[in-house]
Amino acid sequence: MNAGGQQAHGSTDVAILAALRREPGGFVSGTELAARLGVTRAAISARVRELRARGYDIAASPQLGYRLEAAPDRLVGDDLLAQLGSGVVIGRDIRVFQETASTNDVVERLARDGGREGVVVFAEAQTRGRGRLGRSWVSPAGKGLWFSVLLRPRWLPGEATRLTIMAANAVARAVEAAGVAGVEIKWPNDLLVRGRKVAGILIEMQAELDRIRHVVLGVGVDVNLERCDYPPALRDSATSLKLATGRAMDRPALAVAVLRALEADYRRLREGRFPEVAAEWADRCDTLGREVVLRVGEREVRGRAEGLDESGALLVRTEHGRIEPIVGGEVRLAH
Ligand code: BTN
Repeated sequence: MNAGGQQAHGSTDVAILAALRREPGGFVSGTELAARLGVTRAAISARVRELRARGYDIAASPQLGYRLEAAPDRLVGDDLLAQLGSGVVIGRDIRVFQETASTNDVVERLARDGGREGVVVFAEAQTRGRGRLGRSWVSPAGKGLWFSVLLRPRWLPGEATRLTIMAANAVARAVEAAGVAGVEIKWPNDLLVRGRKVAGILIEMQAELDRIRHVVLGVGVDVNLERCDYPPALRDSATSLKLATGRAMDRPALAVAVLRALEADYRRLREGRFPEVAAEWADRCDTLGREVVLRVGEREVRGRAEGLDESGALLVRTEHGRIEPIVGGEVRLAH
């Protein structure tokens, strides 16, 4: 584990937070909690004091026990674990850094050290967050969701494009469920609201010719950024969920929703249900059915974006009438 990473305890705090969250608005008996966890009431009370110091507002009543009044606007690994529950792959281990260069780098190191599939690393701030095509990614403290997930699918390298599709679809679904209208996907995996980018996904892979070693799935969601958080050059093309909806959003709740959506869609992929996920992606995608210009490395491909193939590649009917599968690059609409 890198210095500076706060590793979730996976123990008493997770169990206390899970019990409190199971009773929204209600009390949880300290005696029952202590018995269930096999610790003393004094130990529970000490952990509650510690949780309060971490920003949790927990009411205590001698007769009734404890009640969660409010949680801090911070990402707390124990609390995310408590809400995801056991039995998940994505988020079975969650680590939160106050600041790191790039969560993709942290997860890459964990992967090389033999880390388990599903470990998630969040950072409240990234100093060298990066986007696709060598761009940098603005990641100010406490304003977004900047995280990476380690995946180890037993697929051919060419099939990794499916992860791009599933991640965009999952993040879009979670953002919509949080009450944001008009979320669209721009191929391959940008999330736009009213034409401006609110989230992006960076997939990095280590593979041999015939097998994926591991994939680092990096997700950046601009949640509560203000206009002044963006450099002037991005102010017309990027936005945050707060700027788009006019209200600040609960980041930790959105983090849980995004991780649950990723878990559900990654499971569907493992069960061979990629076509289902791809159909949902297509419904949200503003690129399909349009005349597009794709920049693929040094090459430019012009044509009509017709759909996805079974590996997740974009099928483009080119000017010459041929169908060409495209796995990465940048798209713009042709005029
Ligand atoms: C893009 O749209 O260009 C992809 C942006 C991906 C940003 C996320 S933030 C968490 C993770 N760490 C990084 O350095 N990048 C990704």
